[in-house]
Amino acid sequence: MKKVKNQIVTDRYAIYNDDCMNVVTELDEKSIDLSVYSPPFAGLYNYSSDPRDMSNCETKEQFLEQYDYLVKEISRVTKDGRITAVHCTDVFDNTCRLWDFPHEIIKIHEKYGFEYRNRITIWKEPLKVRMRTMVQSLMHKFIVEDSTKCFTAMPDYILVFTKKGENKVPVTHEFGINEYAGETPILPNILRAWNNANNSDFTSDELWSHLNKINEDDKITKLNHYIWQRYASSVWDDIRIDNVLPYRDSREEDDEKHVHPLQLDCIDRIVELYSNPDEVVFTPFMGVGSEVFSPVSMGRKAIGVELKDSYFKQATLNLKEADKRYIKKYKQESLFD
Ligand SMILES: C[S@@+](CC[C@H](N)C(=O)[O-])C[C@H]1O[C@@H](n2cnc3c(N)ncnc32)[C@H](O)[C@@H]1O
Repeated sequence: MKKVKNQIVTDRYAIYNDDCMNVVTELDEKSIDLSVYSPPFAGLYNYSSDPRDMSNCETKEQFLEQYDYLVKEISRVTKDGRITAVHCTDVFDNTCRLWDFPHEIIKIHEKYGFEYRNRITIWKEPLKVRMRTMVQSLMHKFIVEDSTKCFTAMPDYILVFTKKGENKVPVTHEFGINEYAGETPILPNILRAWNNANNSDFTSDELWSHLNKINEDDKITKLNHYIWQRYASSVWDDIRIDNVLPYRDSREEDDEKHVHPLQLDCIDRIVELYSNPDEVVFTPFMGVGSEVFSPVSMGRKAIGVELKDSYFKQATLNLKEADKRYIKKYKQESLFD
C-alpha cells in the first residue's frame, strides 16, 4: 500500500501503521471473510493526541460520524453472508452518564447492510474490575453508606452481525470444535451428568484430559459437544482476563491512558466459529496485534491497521510469536499468494 506511514507484509499477514480509513478504502470489495475488533470507545480511552485517533472526539456524535464511515467501508469489503464482530461496552459519556454504545453500533451496522444476529456477554469479576478501573460504584463502603451509589461490574459485549446476502462458502467444522479457549470447559452439571451416566468419579480436570485422549482417536466425541455448549452460551463467563498479548512496553511517557488488549480467548472463539483456515480476517484497530495474532496462529490470513506507532511496533514484536501457537493443528504454509 503506497501512502501509509509504515507497513509489514509477510506471506501470512499484512499490517499497516496508519489511519484505518486510509487502508480500508484501498481493500477490494468483498475481499474479507471476517472482521473482529474493539473500536476505541469514544470518551473512554484516549490513546494518542493524533486527531485521526477515533477516541479523540469532543462529543459522541462526532465519534459516531467517523465510525459511520468505517462501518460503511467494512460493509463494502465484507463478503456476502459473512460476519463482523464488534467488541464493546456501555460507555460513560463526558457528563458521566451511561451511554448505550452497543445500541449505536447496532444502528450503524443496520444502516449499512448488516443484520444484527447475536450479543455475547463477557462476564467480569467485580473485584478485578474495581482494582483495574477504580470505579467508585464498586466500592464496598457505599453498600454501608448509601447503596443507591452501588452498581454491578459492567460486562463487555461482542455484537455479531452478518452481511446481507448468501454466504457462498460455508464455515465448516468437520469434527466440531476440539480446542477450548477459556478457563472452565467442563461445568459442574456436565461433570455430574457424565459421572452419573458412566458410573465414574472424575474431577473436571480428569474428565477433560480423558475426553481429550479419546478425541485424538475418534475425531468426534462428547468433547466437541461440550465445547459447543460452552461457546453457544450467551454469557462467556470464563474468559481469562489476563490472557492477552504483551502490551506494557508500548506505553509512552505522556500517554494519559493505555490500551488493554482484547483477551485472546474472545478472539480465538470468534475466529474459530466464523472463519475457515486460509480465509482473511480484518481488524481496523489492531492495537498491539491481538486480532492479527490469533487468526494467523490459527492458520488464517490477517490484515490489521494501527494508528499509534508504539502499539504498531509492539504488534510487530508480538506477531513474531504467532508461529509458536497451534502449530501442530494448522499447517503454516504461505498464506498470501
Ligand atoms: C480498543 S483499542 C484496540 C486494542 C486491540 N484490540 C488489542 O488487543 O490490542 C483501539 C485501538 O484503535 C487505535 N486507533 C484509534 N483510532 C484509529 C484510527 N483512526 N486508525 C487506526 N487505529 C486507530 C488506537 O490507537 C487503539 O490502539
